[in-house]
Amino acid sequence: MFTEKDFIRNKYKKTEKTFDLTAQAPSNIALVKYWGKYPKQIPMNPSVSFTLNKSKTTTKAIISPNHSNKDINFKFYFKGKHKPDFEPKIKQFFQNILKYAPFLKDYFFEIDSKNSFPHSSGIASSASAFAALTKILILLEKQITIENKNEDFWTKKTSFLARIGSGSASRSIEYPVSIWGKHPNLKYTSDLYAVKPDFEIHPIFNNYNDSIILVEEGQKQVSSTAGHKLMENHPYKNIRKQQAFDNTIKILEILKNGNVVDFIDIVEQEALTLHALMMTSTPNYILMQAETLQIIHSIRKYREQTGVNLCFTLDAGANVHVLYPEINKIEVLKFLETLTTKKIIHDNIS
Ligand code: DP6
Repeated sequence: MFTEKDFIRNKYKKTEKTFDLTAQAPSNIALVKYWGKYPKQIPMNPSVSFTLNKSKTTTKAIISPNHSNKDINFKFYFKGKHKPDFEPKIKQFFQNILKYAPFLKDYFFEIDSKNSFPHSSGIASSASAFAALTKILILLEKQITIENKNEDFWTKKTSFLARIGSGSASRSIEYPVSIWGKHPNLKYTSDLYAVKPDFEIHPIFNNYNDSIILVEEGQKQVSSTAGHKLMENHPYKNIRKQQAFDNTIKILEILKNGNVVDFIDIVEQEALTLHALMMTSTPNYILMQAETLQIIHSIRKYREQTGVNLCFTLDAGANVHVLYPEINKIEVLKFLETLTTKKIIHDNIS
């Protein structure tokens, strides 16, 4: 276990070198949802996610000595195009992690990012984006540090810093399953960074599929950050916390024993709870669309009629993630074709 202090390090080589670095990080889909947080990105409850295989952010950075001034100095590009709109969020991130990465001021960063999935498709791009950017910073830190640390330290520090950018980004470092948030019964878990389960995942979950139905493309109506804030005074806050702590233990047990029927129960309960919390906050809001509900009903009907173990989960949006075992892929893909005319991104966990 690492503490916050372990990630504060100030001993670096002085160098006039220019670094050309590339890193890639996946998106992830939460099975047990992170919803609600305390100051400094401490989650209200533990969360568990699958890491996706194809939905990724690739980030390149040219990092040269910062001669112009000794403040944070960078430029952000998306697919080669300068994006000043994105820069305040990244600047805030750099400022928030300066304590753990003081070398940020010594360099000028030209950052260029791209996603393997369509922009504004509703796939959580902040998770993969902050994870990829943080990987770049850690690649740099590894080259300029004068201390000797092992890979476990670097992985945890990557997750630790990515978490400060976006909570769910902490879970985009380890794969195929990631747990973020301290659970008293799981000694190896932490609020500061995500970890892998300390057991082998059951083979039924190998290559588990996630077909993402893009019910609604474009910017979210209410940001996750605003949604987390509404949990602070939520009437169901304590009940939700208890449920998430319990579901974390249950889902990990399921990921070990491969009980797909129980998996469906927990995953769908978590998705519906997330949206129920939004619908019962002050102010309340609804992110599901009519088609989201239609798809949910059709999935349940198809499951009842065929016995195929597919289920749905939702992010903070209208899109539906359809999760199913690799052995059912052919029939589920056929079913999905009849289900909607909306765009579907076929991913799997890895
Ligand atoms: C509904 O990680 O996007 O996807 O920490 O404010 O950046 P910030 O929030 P974010 O919240 C994700 C919420 C969620 C559930 C989850 O991924 O666990």
